[in-house]
Amino acid sequence: MKVLGIDTSCDETSMAVVENGKILRNIVASQVSLHKNWGGVVPDLAKRAHEKNIDKVYQKTILGMGEIEVVAVTIGPGLAPALRVGVEFAKKLAWETNKKLVAVNHIEGHLLSPFINRKNDFSWPIMVLSVSGKHTQIVLMEAIGKYKVLGVTLDDAAGEALDKAARVIGLGYPGGPILEKLAKNGQVGFLKLPLPLKNMVGYDFSFSGLKTSFYYQLKDWQEAKKMENKENLSASFQEAVGAHLFYQLEKAIRDYQPATLFGVGGVMSNNYMRQKMRALALKYQLQVFFPISKKLNTDNAAMIAYVGEEKWKRGEEVREIERLDFVARLSL
Ligand code: KG4
Ligand code: ZN
Repeated sequence: MKVLGIDTSCDETSMAVVENGKILRNIVASQVSLHKNWGGVVPDLAKRAHEKNIDKVYQKTILGMGEIEVVAVTIGPGLAPALRVGVEFAKKLAWETNKKLVAVNHIEGHLLSPFINRKNDFSWPIMVLSVSGKHTQIVLMEAIGKYKVLGVTLDDAAGEALDKAARVIGLGYPGGPILEKLAKNGQVGFLKLPLPLKNMVGYDFSFSGLKTSFYYQLKDWQEAKKMENKENLSASFQEAVGAHLFYQLEKAIRDYQPATLFGVGGVMSNNYMRQKMRALALKYQLQVFFPISKKLNTDNAAMIAYVGEEKWKRGEEVREIERLDFVARLSL
């Protein structure tokens, strides 16, 4: 059963073909260069780029694939004008070619991304730390399709905080990978930053206090001083983000005792964050997995096709195609 996945939730036009949980093709047309100058994703530019790219990406994806039987599309969460392009494309395709259509939650795609191209022999329950530019959450998975959200961010996503910190220093976009590189030669703790929500019960996250503290401490610094200290600043901010992520995750591990940990989403392609997660896994004697390739950490349609195949196996297809719509603020 070949499943075509489509994701246009943000700034990547992506399509993929998955069969029996394995990737046959995964195409990602990135718009990073388009949004770079603005320091973040501009919804209207994203929409136009999706419209321009979508047919080309489709042709490239299905080339030589033979018959595709199911179309799986991200219906949210994401940017409304961007989501609309993918959802309309998928509806038209399913309608015209008489294919089954499955609606997918983008976050579920990230959650299941470590299953792709692997044998499904993980020990359950699995606790997932899912960290991207748009969401940050801890989810306990009891089975595929059975999720308990333990904590979410109350304000910014961790990736968003990294991107904003990079902008404050005067570095490029997206900030996460730039900070990671610079941080390798920097001194952690060069700047004192708070540990958010330290005395609060629960497993939620908050990054706006960190971001504000960083901003105010550097407010009167000249460009030259920031550049001189960019490694130390990167290391300090990255460490503070990681400290908060793994402080909350450790509490959740102690309380829910999962058997396995997953680290997914763009921020978990970061080696410093992965190392912190591995250390936690070792401390609590858990297995830990990331997607088999870092390309599956950042946005991609293979994870959407994967979820689509799972949902299709459970008979969860869209019955009235013409009535399907995107949901920009969809939660798990
Ligand atoms: O998962 P993703 O590609 O898209 C969303 O769904 O948001 O995540 C993008 C986010 C950006 O904020 C980016 O700065 C961050 O992930 N990111 C990283 C790294 N690569 C991407 N953050 C830290 N280290 C990285 N290596
Ligand atoms: Zn994503």
